[in-house]
Formats: sequence, C-alpha cells, structure tokens
Amino acid sequence: MINIRCETLPDYTVIAEVNTLAFGQENEAKLVEEIRRSDRYIPKLSLVAEIENFVVGHILFSYIDLVGEETLQVLGLAPLAVHPKFQRQGIGIALIKAGLEIAETKKEAIVIVLGYPHFYTRFGFQPSVVYGIESPFPVPEDVFMVKPLQSYQKKYKGKVVYPAAFNGV
Ligand SMILES: CC(C)(COP(=O)(O)OP(=O)(O)OC[C@H]1O[C@@H](n2cnc3c(N)ncnc32)[C@H](O)[C@@H]1OP(=O)(O)O)[C@@H](O)C(=O)NCCC(=O)NCCS
Repeated sequence: MINIRCETLPDYTVIAEVNTLAFGQENEAKLVEEIRRSDRYIPKLSLVAEIENFVVGHILFSYIDLVGEETLQVLGLAPLAVHPKFQRQGIGIALIKAGLEIAETKKEAIVIVLGYPHFYTRFGFQPSVVYGIESPFPVPEDVFMVKPLQSYQKKYKGKVVYPAAFNGV
C-alpha cells in the first residue's frame, strides 16, 4: 500500500537519501534543498511516497519562469526519485498523479519536465515545442515536455528559464 503525503521537516534527511540513491549522485538532493530555501518552493507540492511508514519516493514541483511577451511562473517537475529497491512498482506514477491533482486544485496552468518520453507521455505530457515552449537546454525535442492543465491559456509560450537553484544539476 502506497501512501502519498506532503513532506514535513523530519522527512528531509530521508528525502535526500532517496534522491542520492536514485540518481547515484548528490546533485538532486542538493537541488531539493536549494529550492526549499528559495521563493520558488511550494510546500504542498513536495510529496513523499511511503510504504509502511517508510519514505521510498519523493517528487517536487516548484516555480520556474516562462519568458515570452510576459514572464509567467509555471510549474517545473524536478526531481522525481524512487528508492532503487522500490522502483517499477508504480510509486513514480502514483507520485506524479498525486502532484498533478494538487496542481489542478491550485489552478496552475502548465507543468514542465525534462525526462523520459516513454514515462511521461502516459500522463499527457507532450514535447514543449507543440505548445510553442522552448527549452533552455540543447536537448532532443521529445525529452523536454509540458502538460497543460485546465487553467492553460495560449499565452503560456516562450522560453523556459530555470532559477539559480538549478545551476548545480
Ligand atoms: C524514473 C523513476 C522515477 C520511475 O519511478 P518508478 O516507481 O520506478 O516507476 P513506476 O513503477 O511508477 O512506473 C514504471 C514505468 O517507469 C518507467 N521507468 C522506470 N524506470 C525507468 C528508467 N530507468 N528509464 C526509463 N523509464 C523508466 C517505465 O516507463 C516504466 O513503465 P514500464 O515498466 O511499463 O515500461 C525511478 O525509476 C527513478 O527514481 N529513477 C532514477 C531517478 C530518475 O531517473 N529520475 C528522473 C525521472 S525523469
């Protein structure tokens, strides 16, 4: 049984461990800590997945900039990590679904992610170019994806700019 809930302060250490184990490096754990310290942090959208009260997964959505005719704040999904011993059991999918539901209730417009197309397209993510949204990274078009939410409007286009917290990843 997977339980998804918001992170609390006592979770910070195990969240860092899960990120470090999942990615095989400390950059993503540090990214989480940097975002928490910044004004882009959204406490309701830092979620943990628990199995028998043990944290085995974590997802963070935070505000990033979409710079077009105006600069709009949109949700960036990063990082997503599942403890290696618990991968491929539906935990990553459960975390994304829970996060997207919260994003809808917050009336957010769009979620942006850099990741595996095979994994993210099942949630309705599409290459960002489809929506006139440009990646700041020189990556293949299909790995930089967006999912428009119910509040999406056509004004959400332009180039994505990540805040300084992301410089280390
Ligand atoms: C990617 C990750 C978050 C997925 O979480 P998970 O709980 O293992 O995945 P779920 O069981 O919910 O979903 C399974 C699907 O995830 C995808 N997936 C899992 N691991 C994957 C990997 N290493 N590469 C590509 N796709 C992967 C597959 O599409 C899989 O579906 P399939 O088995 O039908 O092909 C997890 O494997 C992880 O933490 N990996 C290391 C960190 C990482 O790469 N994070 C970046 C995510 S963009």
